[in-house]
Amino acid sequence: MKVNGTHYRSLWWDAQKGALQIIDQRWLPHDFRIQQLDTLADYATAITDMHVRGAPLIGATAAYGMALAMAQDSSDAALARAWELLHATRPTAINLRWALDRCRAALAPLEPGARADAALRLAHEIADEDVEINRRIGEHGLALIREIAAQKADGAPVQILTHCNAGWIATVDWGTATSPMYQAHDAGLPLHVWVDETRPRNQGALTAWELGSHGISHSYITDNAGGHLMQHGQVDLVITGTDRTTRQGDVCNKIGTYLKALAAKDNGVPFYVALPSPTIDWTVTDGIGEIPIEERPGQEVTHVQGSDTSGRISPVRVTPEGTPAGNPAFDVTPHRLVTGLITERGICEASAEGLAGLFPDLAG
Ligand code: MRU
Repeated sequence: MKVNGTHYRSLWWDAQKGALQIIDQRWLPHDFRIQQLDTLADYATAITDMHVRGAPLIGATAAYGMALAMAQDSSDAALARAWELLHATRPTAINLRWALDRCRAALAPLEPGARADAALRLAHEIADEDVEINRRIGEHGLALIREIAAQKADGAPVQILTHCNAGWIATVDWGTATSPMYQAHDAGLPLHVWVDETRPRNQGALTAWELGSHGISHSYITDNAGGHLMQHGQVDLVITGTDRTTRQGDVCNKIGTYLKALAAKDNGVPFYVALPSPTIDWTVTDGIGEIPIEERPGQEVTHVQGSDTSGRISPVRVTPEGTPAGNPAFDVTPHRLVTGLITERGICEASAEGLAGLFPDLAG
């Protein structure tokens, strides 16, 4: 998508420098900074400390990390070490393991001398596939938005609520939850997006930055506002992303998603999840019992980062000094609360049958 009129992906390979370039998301929405990743430690830090974030982008970054590792040392031991180091960066988003496993499976059978080139080709392939998956998710989601728009009187905007940032910077391009929004806007459908702030890290500000850059009408709201808006008929549809979806359709996503699904259910608002197939964990059925939930530093809760009146970006403490904080980063929305899953192959029910029907080749 575009930043100040220039098309960007959220990461790209600079062939001249022989290195990956990322948008360092820690500074957004206040500052647009590009970072080059030169060492495997740079990759691990970029994922752990959320210079890059969002399940699909974490997976694609890890694939480039494997390519860098193979360019430096293509032995079996280096392959295993790179997999371990990158896998340990973040525990919840399954795209990380999906990408690492795919790289290891492709590279391990090769002669060490052939691994570096093959790893870089595979990383490009994973990045390009992500773009195409998300474009298709957008097409299927657009059909859904069209249906709702057709039922509205006098061209009133379709009101969509989203949580966190499942936007283009959380993927390689398009985003998952935002892809239908971009495509609907580009097709001329009137939209208004309610953007949840998404404490503690305020990924909603990233979504607001994206939507604003694309000219999509939106309002930034506190995480507590969604239920009220739904009670007053101001939300037609919820679309969120997912970090890991189980084979029965339980959805693990950014903390607070579950509460939005409960409110949506109570108010008869359709709750959809945009789901690229690499985000399905076919080895897991019950999301609440089986998905590891990342516990992040308490400082993300006790402090908020922002830009002050002089434009200086800095964290501000909002609690008494020394206040202990809890920071579970994700929660699980049981499949019974999910109206449907918008995948690259179409929309299905959030159930074992629904997912296996669309992905018989993956469901096993
Ligand atoms: O902790 P984050 O910012 O990586 O969490 C991101 C989310 O929860 C997104 O909704 C999810 O990864 C889907 S991104 C297309």
